[in-house]
Amino acid sequence: NKVAVLYGGTSAEREISLKSGKAVYQALCNKDVNAELIDTKETSPLLLKQMGFSHVFIALHGRGGEDGVIQGVLEYLALPYTGSRVLGSALAMDKVRTKQVWQSCGLPTAKYLRVNPGMQLDFAQILDTLGGCVFVKPAREGSSIGMSRAQSAAELADAVRNAFEFDADVLIEQFIDGPEYTIAVVDGQALPAIRTQTDRGFYDYEAKYLSDTTQYHCPCGLNAQDEAYAQQLAQQAFAAVQADGWGRVDLMRDADGQFYLLEVNTVPGMTEKSLVPMAARATGLDFESLVLKILSLAK
Ligand code: DAL
Ligand code: MG
Repeated sequence: NKVAVLYGGTSAEREISLKSGKAVYQALCNKDVNAELIDTKETSPLLLKQMGFSHVFIALHGRGGEDGVIQGVLEYLALPYTGSRVLGSALAMDKVRTKQVWQSCGLPTAKYLRVNPGMQLDFAQILDTLGGCVFVKPAREGSSIGMSRAQSAAELADAVRNAFEFDADVLIEQFIDGPEYTIAVVDGQALPAIRTQTDRGFYDYEAKYLSDTTQYHCPCGLNAQDEAYAQQLAQQAFAAVQADGWGRVDLMRDADGQFYLLEVNTVPGMTEKSLVPMAARATGLDFESLVLKILSLAK
């Protein structure tokens, strides 16, 4: 048995993936698993079978790695791989389609509008409809890349222009004023919720990877009943987009205690400091055991 840890790639989240891949690879080596790091920017995944690999651990974030493309190649090669299949990966990569699926299942998610280049937009009216403060997001990015908050027509125009740099599908989403939570799902089970707290405007790229003032609370401070409810929502949200194996669901809670689902990450960050490992540790599962568990679910 030989495991390929796919990392790097060509997405905007390449730098994060390099870290996730190295951490996963190190964990596998520590557990005496025969593993090799493969940067899909340099080595075509089409070669994995002839290179002698029997299993694949996907540590690629973003488009080309987390969106069903690599998953399709691995299906074609009949190589067992970790995480979501083609459909779940593609759906979860796309925040607009994810929200459409959730809405059709009656799962709570903030109001939004999808915009595309060339549309005539009345920014003041959009703000008005969505409550005066919004998040603007490229539909298919991760790590908050291309995202910004806007509360005036001029800010919204800038935010939309910026988001179009990353994707032709852009989401303008009602801003939910309240704490952000994240819930890992591993093998169908929701792990304890983590509350993220930043002194920046929102949990952006800087807060995620660069700031040392971002705080992570686990236990998250919700009472047992509310946390159980949020975990149940996360499991439903995960299943609704056909996610599989492992992943992480992000959500917000407003001042009235209502939860709103934000997105599913089907290949969440896997550095020692990342959130899924943090939640796993809270249940007594160390990083190496978590990596082995995810690999054991490869199919
Ligand atoms: N997209 C980043 C890697 C995450 O969700 O952790
Ligand atoms: Mg994401």
